[in-house]
Amino acid sequence: MTSLDDLPLRDDLRGLRPYGAPQLDVPVRLNTNENSYPVPETVVEAISKALQAELRELNRYPDRDARALRADLADYLGHGLTSAHVWAANGSNEIQQQLLQVFGGPGRSALGFTPAYSMHPLLAVATGTRWIDGRRNADFDLTPQEAAAQVEEHRPDVVFLCSPNNPTGTALDPAVLRAVLDVAPGMVVVDEAYAEFARPGTPSALTLLPDYPRLVVTRTMSKAFGFAGGRLGYLAANPAVVEAVQLVRLPYHLSTLTQAAARAVLAHRDLLLSTVEVIKEQRDRIVRTLRERGHRVADSDANFVLFEVGGDQRVVWQALLDRGVLVRDVGLPGWLRVTAGTPEETDAFLRAMVEIARERT
Ligand SMILES: Cc1ncc(COP(=O)(O)O)c(C=O)c1O
Repeated sequence: MTSLDDLPLRDDLRGLRPYGAPQLDVPVRLNTNENSYPVPETVVEAISKALQAELRELNRYPDRDARALRADLADYLGHGLTSAHVWAANGSNEIQQQLLQVFGGPGRSALGFTPAYSMHPLLAVATGTRWIDGRRNADFDLTPQEAAAQVEEHRPDVVFLCSPNNPTGTALDPAVLRAVLDVAPGMVVVDEAYAEFARPGTPSALTLLPDYPRLVVTRTMSKAFGFAGGRLGYLAANPAVVEAVQLVRLPYHLSTLTQAAARAVLAHRDLLLSTVEVIKEQRDRIVRTLRERGHRVADSDANFVLFEVGGDQRVVWQALLDRGVLVRDVGLPGWLRVTAGTPEETDAFLRAMVEIARERT
């Protein structure tokens, strides 16, 4: 049988493993920061109708530039943005890949501040971009001075910041973003996949777009909108950036069905985003309860919580799984990440944690 090693693979891909959070069939799935609430019936009907209306024309290619969808996304974002500032693709991962295809690539570099979203380095490698692991301090924190110094030292073509950060969940201090923007020689991408869950008073990087033409803010409908299976991510930036990504996007990358479904979802945004408040309550409850029980817990502006387990995180991960609760081992020794979902899911997770603690004492 032919194995990977027998194929004439690119040298820089040899030995790599594909991205893969376990997809296990367990009762409580809290490992990929999805929205736990199913799509409401009204929205299911609206999506069905929107798809139905397109079916006869599937002999034609989709709108290559997804104009109507981009106008809807710009309207949702506000901040005076228009469709010219917005670009959409199959998930924000594809958006970030396109950004690296245009602004990274062979002979270029990208820097992120680890621990951050694990796909950023993988996308860099896949696009032949040299990845630079920037540092955070022991509390996963980043000061404006530390961030700017690392950017000045490495002079990367692309800087990735993540706000709220994954896996820590904490929103970026706006002073850090400004410090990076002021010294970055290339593009600065702020991944705001979880922006809708931020605590009150957390500003979005969107507010800085008018001042910084090399700033790009990426967003997704996978989290707050509960549309992870629909695959729709987008960016907001200077219109020149949108023109730039069009140089590398595949023609017709966003299917007619995806565009129609996403538009139907956006039309029901008030209903869909009503789950955000409920999820934030569960997030705050997890943070509070774990802290009361003596765990160190990172501040969270997202729909997940990073907590210290007090021991080997792999053992606790398995013990939770044995109780039907799947959380994420993000590879940080001693820490695990859990998604905030429904009150019942929080109950199951917190109960399992009590049982595990009891067993270990
Ligand atoms: C920080 C961050 N960015 C982007 C994504 C990917 O989102 P999408 O489903 O839009 O590709 C995730 C998914 O977990 C994420 O955590």
